[in-house]
Amino acid sequence: MCGIMGYVGPQQAGPILIDGLRRLEYRGYDSAGIAVTNGVINVRKARGKIANLEDILSSDPVTGSIGIGHTRWATHGAPTDANAHPHTDPTGEFVVVHNGIIENYQSLREELASQGAKWSSETDSEVLAHLVAREYDGDLVAAVRRTVALSEGAYAMVVMTKREPGKIVAVRKISPLVVGLGDRETFLASDIPAVLHHTRDFIIIEDDELVIVTEDGAQVETIAGEPVDRDPIHITWDAERAEKGGYDHFMLKEIHEQPAVVTETLAGRLDEDGTVWLEDVAFDDDYARAIGRVWITACGTAYHAGLIGQEIFRRVLRLPANVEYAHELRYADPIVSEDELTIAISQSGETADTLAAARLASERGSRLMAITNVVGSTLSRYADDIFYTRAGPEISVASTKAYMAMLIAQYLLALRLGAARGTVEPKVAQDLARGLHRMPGMLEEVLRREESAIAAAEAVKDANDVYFIGRGLDFAIALEGSLKLKEISYVHSEAMPAGELKHGTLALITEGVPVVVIMTQRSVYDKTISAVQEVKARGGRIIAVAYDTDTEIEHHADIVLRIPDMDDLLAPVAAVVPLQLLAYHVARLRGHDIDQPRNLAKSVTVE
Ligand code: AGP
Repeated sequence: MCGIMGYVGPQQAGPILIDGLRRLEYRGYDSAGIAVTNGVINVRKARGKIANLEDILSSDPVTGSIGIGHTRWATHGAPTDANAHPHTDPTGEFVVVHNGIIENYQSLREELASQGAKWSSETDSEVLAHLVAREYDGDLVAAVRRTVALSEGAYAMVVMTKREPGKIVAVRKISPLVVGLGDRETFLASDIPAVLHHTRDFIIIEDDELVIVTEDGAQVETIAGEPVDRDPIHITWDAERAEKGGYDHFMLKEIHEQPAVVTETLAGRLDEDGTVWLEDVAFDDDYARAIGRVWITACGTAYHAGLIGQEIFRRVLRLPANVEYAHELRYADPIVSEDELTIAISQSGETADTLAAARLASERGSRLMAITNVVGSTLSRYADDIFYTRAGPEISVASTKAYMAMLIAQYLLALRLGAARGTVEPKVAQDLARGLHRMPGMLEEVLRREESAIAAAEAVKDANDVYFIGRGLDFAIALEGSLKLKEISYVHSEAMPAGELKHGTLALITEGVPVVVIMTQRSVYDKTISAVQEVKARGGRIIAVAYDTDTEIEHHADIVLRIPDMDDLLAPVAAVVPLQLLAYHVARLRGHDIDQPRNLAKSVTVE
C-alpha cells in the first residue's frame, strides 16, 4: 500500500518527508518520491528503495519548507521512475501524490488526451494532477473539490500548487489520512507512525473529508464544503505499536484490514448487475467460451483459496475445475492442453513451486493466469493474464488478507467467464454482485464479534490436538482454519471433510477434544450435524461457525462463532474470519511470536 507524507512549517521539508517515508516502509513499496516548493516545485523520485531517492537528492538537493512525499506500491503501471509519485501537470505548477485507485481513470485519460494532455507515466494518479490544473480558477480547494467529483474510486490524494504557497490540500475517500499537529508546523501522513516522533496530537481525517493544511494547523471540511469540528486525539502508544495501527501484531491488523481489502479488490471491477471489468485479463469471449477445464495450482493458503475457486467454477459455471498443489503438479507429468486455463495463485508471486508448475503448464500449451498480490512479481511476468489482488503488503507470515483477496478474485473471474459462456443466469450474477458489494459490511460485523473468538481461544489454548470439519466449501475453510492454527499456535491440528471423520479419525475423539465445525452449507447441514453428534457422543467439544439465524446449532455446540446470514456460495469469505481470529488468540494466549512463527518464511522461494 502506498504511503503519503506532507509537511508545512519552518524546517526544511525534504529530510522530514524522507524520514516519514522511511517510517512508512513497513507498508511495502517499490518506488519513492518527494516534491518540495520554494517558489517553484521541485520533484525528485526514483524506483526502488528510499536510498535511491536519497542518492538523487544528495547530488540534486531540494530546498523549501513545504512538501509532499510518497512511497508507491504499484497498481497501474510497473514500478519505474516515471510511474513513481509525485506527479505534476504539464506546467509543473500543480503536484499530486495519491494512494488508492481512480476507477474511471481510462475515460478521464481519454477526455484529457482529447484536450491535448500528454502523459509522463502510465498511472491513474497523473490524471489527478491534470484535472486539478484544468479545474483551477484561483482557488485550489475548489479545484480539488471538482476533481474529486470527477474521480471515482477509493483513494486519498494530496495536492500542492506554487500558486498558493504555504498550503497543502488533501482528501480522503476511504484510503487513510491523518494530520499531525506540531508547534507552528503541521504534518500529513497516511499513518500515525510516520510522524509520531514529531507529535502525539492527531486529527484523523474521515471518509469524504477534505483538509487544508498550513503551518497553523488543519481546517477540516466535508467534500461538499460543510465545516467539520473535530478534536485532536492524543496518541499514547509506543512507536512499534503505532506501526501496527495500534494492534499488537501485524496479523491482527491485517485481519482487521479485510473489509477494506475486499473494497479495494472489487473497486472498479464489478457493476451492480454482475458485469466484471478486469484490466489485465487479456483473453476474449471466444477464448472464454472455448475453455474445457480450469487447473488451479498453488501452495499453502493460496492452495486453500484455490479449493474455493474450484468449487465456484464447478457450481457457478458447471466448468470442470481441479486444484493441484504446485509441488505435486510440477512432477506429475500433467496432461494439459490448449483449451485448458491454468490459474496460478500466489500472494508473493515468487513461490518456487508455484512458478515451476505455472511454467510447466504454460510450456505444455495451457494459457496461464496469475492471481497475485505483487505487481511485477515473477509469476505476473510469466502470465498471459493477471489478476492483481490489491490486498496491500502482507507482513505477517500467516496469510489472512491476501487469502481474502484471492477468494474475491475467483468470484470475479467466475462472473467474467460466466458472462462470456452464457452459463450464469443474470439473476444469479446480480445476486452474487450484490453479495460481494455487501461483503465489507458483513466482515465488519464479524470483526465486531471478536470476543466470541477470544472465548473459543480460551477453550482451545491448552489442547494438544484440534480437528476442523466441514463439507464442500466448509471443508475448504476448515483446511485454512486448521493451517492458521498450526502455523502460529503450534497446536497440532487436522482438517477433514465431515463425512470422513467416522472413517478413522473418530478414534482420536475423546473427552474434551476440540472439534471446530463449519456449518454454512445449508444443502448438507443435516449431514454435518450427524458428524457433530458423533463427536458429542465421544465427549468432544464442539466449536461451530454458523449463521445468525441457525438456532439448531445451539443444541449441539459448546461455543458458536456467528456470522451474518448470506448466500452459501459467498459464506467462505465471512466464515474464515472467526477462524483467523481463533488462531490468532490461541497463539497470543500461548505467548508466541505471531508475526514470525518458528521455521516459516513469508515467501518460499526455494524448492
Ligand atoms: C500461509 O499462512 C502461509 N504462510 C503459506 O502457506 C503461503 O500461503 C504459501 O507459502 C504460499 O505463498 P504464496 O501465496 O506467496 O505463493
